[in-house]
Amino acid sequence: MKLLIKNTTIVTVNDQDQVLEHADLAVSGKNIVGVGKAPLDFIPDRVIDGKGKLVMPGLINAHTHLSMTLMRNYADDLPFSDWLFKKIKPLEDHLLAEDVRFGAKLGIAEMIRGGTTCFHDMYFHMDEVASEVESSGIRACLTSALFDVSGNGEALLAQGCRLHKDWNGRSEGRITVQLGPHSPYLCSPEYLREILIEGRRLNCGIHIHVSETADELSESRRLHGCTPVQHLLNLELFSLPTLAAHAVHLEEEDFKLLSENGVSVSHNPGSNLKLANGFAPVEKMLKHSINVALGTDGAASNNNLNLFEEIHLAGLIHKAVNNSATALPAKTVIRMATINGAKALKLDQEVGSLETGKKADLIMLDIRQPHLVPCHDPLALLVYSAQASDVTTVMVDGNILMEDRQLQTLELSSILEQAAHQSIDLIERSQS
Ligand code: NI
Repeated sequence: MKLLIKNTTIVTVNDQDQVLEHADLAVSGKNIVGVGKAPLDFIPDRVIDGKGKLVMPGLINAHTHLSMTLMRNYADDLPFSDWLFKKIKPLEDHLLAEDVRFGAKLGIAEMIRGGTTCFHDMYFHMDEVASEVESSGIRACLTSALFDVSGNGEALLAQGCRLHKDWNGRSEGRITVQLGPHSPYLCSPEYLREILIEGRRLNCGIHIHVSETADELSESRRLHGCTPVQHLLNLELFSLPTLAAHAVHLEEEDFKLLSENGVSVSHNPGSNLKLANGFAPVEKMLKHSINVALGTDGAASNNNLNLFEEIHLAGLIHKAVNNSATALPAKTVIRMATINGAKALKLDQEVGSLETGKKADLIMLDIRQPHLVPCHDPLALLVYSAQASDVTTVMVDGNILMEDRQLQTLELSSILEQAAHQSIDLIERSQS
């Protein structure tokens, strides 16, 4: 299929942060073959009128637990430890594969409708998530959650490695698999060493929660005599490509260590705000050249998978926290939600910006709306004015997954019904 989007506004997120007006974008098969102008010999099978629209790279959600959509609005206004150990964990102890399947369907539908084309997931029963990624057409990097505090660490690690064997590179490369040690506080040092050995064998990256809460930092000091970042460095975990989710509570030395070791961070402002975990020092991370991406975390602590909301939050809160209206300018926040996410997932050669030769993972927004007119600065529009519901069209790998807000690969009404039913079933099961 050769597709031409004509006469549109393009936010490229290339190295120059170029914004093109009255521009065309050409897609052939899976790939972008022209940005600004189509190649001279390009004969499209289909032309989309881009007037009044804005085209940008698909958003990348760098940290989530997709199937926690079933726990949305179930445990709220609680301190982190009560939220996790008293409300969420009892549900997760009763989690079945079908819970994860229906939660994943719901989450993928929500993400596509909000302009997310790729996500980095950590959860259980991940074959179910992989199957839903395969059939829905979205892109994902998947990890099976690993921890050994419950005594079944070996079995979980074996599952995580098997997931890699079965799914890495599947769906014509749309699915990649990494290892997902949950956190330094749920994984013993011995277990993290085993994960490191497996990660080296599989030649894959690591997705781990790091320094999410003040308690985690003080416990790490008490148990290991150092911060979680220094603890993971001592264990050589950063010798694998690492994505650290949260990194809210960092000490001076940690910035240097994250930067020197090429560790990416997923900043999840909605979750941090809701669980009162503090404000991640993103401005300072960026000054240390740390690659910072954006994530939603799970829908049980957010309570949605709406990256436009995270973009908006990131664009605002760091100005307030740093007492500086110039902190995290719009173009920086858009990079966090796109190309920085791609870098964090080691997919930046393929996606994250609109450039010739990259995969056609892109979204279109309808900018002829009262809250988006006039459009003096498309980047500011995207950060400070746009809503997830402004996304009309979503494409991954050159395939259209949503057009005119209609999902093309998923049947929304049955997904909503099934997920609501499955959620009640899960809660009842956990209480019986
Ligand atoms: Ni998380």
